[in-house]
Amino acid sequence: MEVGGIQALRAWRARQAGRVGLVPTMGALHSGHQALMTRARAEADLVVTSIFVNPLQFGRDEDFVQYPRPFAADLEKCEEAGVDFVFAPALGEMYPSAPEVRVVSGRMGAVFEGEARPGHFDGVLTVVAKLFTLVDPDLTVFGLKDIQQFCLVRRMVGDLNFDIELIGLPVVRDADGLAMSSRNEYLSPSDRARALAIPRALDAAAEVARGAGAEASGGGLPGEVEDAARAVIDDAVRRGDLELIYLSLVEEATLQPCGPDFRGSALLLVSATVGGTHLIDNLPLEF
Ligand code: PAF
Repeated sequence: MEVGGIQALRAWRARQAGRVGLVPTMGALHSGHQALMTRARAEADLVVTSIFVNPLQFGRDEDFVQYPRPFAADLEKCEEAGVDFVFAPALGEMYPSAPEVRVVSGRMGAVFEGEARPGHFDGVLTVVAKLFTLVDPDLTVFGLKDIQQFCLVRRMVGDLNFDIELIGLPVVRDADGLAMSSRNEYLSPSDRARALAIPRALDAAAEVARGAGAEASGGGLPGEVEDAARAVIDDAVRRGDLELIYLSLVEEATLQPCGPDFRGSALLLVSATVGGTHLIDNLPLEF
């Protein structure tokens, strides 16, 4: 496995002939990231993982400075997952000066996480576009936990004609049901127990969507599915376990709220803070 910045990447890339898969990360790697690398390994001849904490996607009051950077442990995880090149550029190499020209994430980037974190998705798409240009991959694998990010990268790949296959990997969960996230490190054991209301809410929604409730006779309607999740979250909010940022059932293609008669692919999106830690999760649904 090689590790390097832009020059080393370019030299390595020029020597490679096979299909290259890219897994973009900000480090603090966990088994969810390793699952992305394993998928890239299965689909491509060579795997590049980028480790770069991108300041452009952090707001002023966010955790850019304290974001975990366990670089040595991250390299071990990449090695374990069979990565060929770890692209770990220095900050000054990626942004010699504050970029004037950026990717704009548009309407889909201004809602949900984008509303709570103005500018976040412009920052994400700008760095992802730079990574696509630098690594020049044939395919890229993103986790579906950050579903709004995935939808926006998909849109950018189409709108800006990146000739890259985009693969989404379903949310990887710990045994207790919590979606894996680098930010889970910030949770104390009691925060973590309180955060489990989020996967429980998604389970309740899934049950109603399947029509698995005692009195249910078929699949639940969009409003019923959303209400089932909201009931679990509202209880948690009343107990003071978490602060809800949003919970919404949206059309997968547009991230617009599902109407009562919606038919097609939908996403139930949840975001909350638990003990000051910002968590997101989602459930894909078919109506
Ligand atoms: O999902 C992440 O870790 C980041 O948003 C990404 C895609 C690596 C861009 O910095």
